[in-house]
Amino acid sequence: MKNKKVLVTGGAGFIGSNLVRYLLEEGNSVTVLDNFMSGYRSNLNPFPALRIIEGDVRDKATVENAMKEVEVVFHLAASVGNKRSIDHPITDAEINVLGTLNVLEAARKEGVHKIVASSSAGIFGELKTIPIKEDHPIEPDSPYGCTKLCEEKLCLSYAKLYDLEAVCLRYFNVYGPNQRFDAYGNVIPIFVFKMLRNESLMIYGDGEQTRDFVNVSDVVQANIKAADSIGVSGAFNIASGKRVTINILVEMITKENRNLIKIEHGPERPGDVRHSLADIMLAQQRINYTPEIDLESGIEEYVKWARKTLVEK
Ligand SMILES: NC(=O)c1ccc[n+]([C@@H]2O[C@H](COP(=O)([O-])OP(=O)(O)OC[C@H]3O[C@@H](n4cnc5c(N)ncnc54)[C@H](O)[C@@H]3O)[C@@H](O)[C@H]2O)c1
Repeated sequence: MKNKKVLVTGGAGFIGSNLVRYLLEEGNSVTVLDNFMSGYRSNLNPFPALRIIEGDVRDKATVENAMKEVEVVFHLAASVGNKRSIDHPITDAEINVLGTLNVLEAARKEGVHKIVASSSAGIFGELKTIPIKEDHPIEPDSPYGCTKLCEEKLCLSYAKLYDLEAVCLRYFNVYGPNQRFDAYGNVIPIFVFKMLRNESLMIYGDGEQTRDFVNVSDVVQANIKAADSIGVSGAFNIASGKRVTINILVEMITKENRNLIKIEHGPERPGDVRHSLADIMLAQQRINYTPEIDLESGIEEYVKWARKTLVEK
């Protein structure tokens, strides 16, 4: 995708800022709409050519203003994560459902032809079969899973009703540069930052549970390929298609100073799924998505980024 006018909602966030970097490098003209709720202005500092609108997807006029002359929309702005949605279910729905409707309505009025929306494996809820195909039962077990599903369905219904294509990308466990460790963080950032601070790592359960981790650069690639796929609307799994146990993940993360890091074991956490592995065949067939970054080299890159981030603080 080159030389297009693009809107990235949530562009200051972890995945959004990686996508913005790629889009600018390819010569696109990029506007970011973000209210910095969970994203960071510093993620956008390296990009002076960027147009930044500080605003909220819940505000119709702001979204309409951001949409002017846009050709492709990448919609990433969201209240992200199960825990946040359980803590703040109304805000979660206002941002993920009504915010998405504002984006779709503005896109329809502006004549935008392509929307790529960030969905989540959280829509599936408890996993019944693996690998998980797109037609796996959908029974979300958090408000977040429900609102991301609603977001998907809204996008796909607009694709049926109007002259626009919508691709919804169901990410599994994404990791990579610009992903911070906080109360809503994921396991890789939590473990890496703890290791770098010489704190012990806590494994819940026996550590033999598995996850499908996908590098953010593969997620960026999925977004670009989705935008470039002509005549395609639908919802697709975006993952690596491989799984590792948490025990192996810990070995990969601590490989340089294994003897120095203390590993603790706690009880299994209620609500955690035992195994996760995506079938990514449909995304391969429909949008030509092929993940390229193996977990070991992705973690090495992430550790370098995290080390630099800690030094700069
Ligand atoms: N990180 C993952 O593993 C993962 C997995 C599945 C799905 N996703 C989805 O990917 C997308 C990006 O997630 P992320 O991991 O980069 O999270 P993030 O929290 O880093 O990014 C979300 C961005 O949206 C912005 N935002 C939130 N509410 C807003 C509002 N009302 N108006 C404008 N901007 C708002 C935040 O400030 C932030 O910059 C989200 O839609 C999320 O649901 C992420």
